[in-house]
Amino acid sequence: MSAAHRGARDRSIPFKNPGWAGNTGEFDLSEDQVRGTDYAPSRAPEGGHPAVSATHPYLLAEKTPDAPLFQGPYRERFQKILSRYPERQGALLPTLNLAQELRGHVSPETMEEVAHLLDLSPAYVRGVASFYTMYNRSPVGRYLIQVCTNVSCNLCGADEVLATILEHTGTELGETSGDGRFTVIEAECLAACGFPTCVQINSKYYENVMPADVPTILENLS
Ligand code: FES
Repeated sequence: MSAAHRGARDRSIPFKNPGWAGNTGEFDLSEDQVRGTDYAPSRAPEGGHPAVSATHPYLLAEKTPDAPLFQGPYRERFQKILSRYPERQGALLPTLNLAQELRGHVSPETMEEVAHLLDLSPAYVRGVASFYTMYNRSPVGRYLIQVCTNVSCNLCGADEVLATILEHTGTELGETSGDGRFTVIEAECLAACGFPTCVQINSKYYENVMPADVPTILENLS
């Protein structure tokens, strides 16, 4: 299903996602229940097409760093994740995703808790979590802004887009703004090379972003 079609979907109808969120066994959650609604396609103010983050984890504005792993709906989602793998080790990446969605980052303590949940060694979990750049290993702001500065985007002005975002958020690269709203980082290709410059804000993609688009994009963040 294309991103455009997904954007037009009647979201009241449970969607049987064949991916990691698919229904297994006794668990019958809709895609929105599993993934949240923050992934909904979004369009840059000027041009581009609706797009959606191609990758897990889903990054939410609201974060609860002290939330337990896992309770309530998150517990149900964790059980569903476990049901998809013959061994607990296989569930490591989606479990880390879920923990990051809930807490906003994957701290050393979170890695230890995940290790305990999955009967893995803390060292193994640390090795995996530190390999993937998608895991935030320190707290991030309400909005994590990832600007692709790889080749395609760079040739189309990504450096200017990044500089404009830093200027308008009043922060430094890799830092979180004083009001806690923004963390801005560079990304090494967001897999939207045909639509440079690509910017990912939490779970949403903004494509064909030009420096002039930046103020509107930031103002539209809730
Ligand atoms: S080079 Fe920017 S998305 Fe691939």
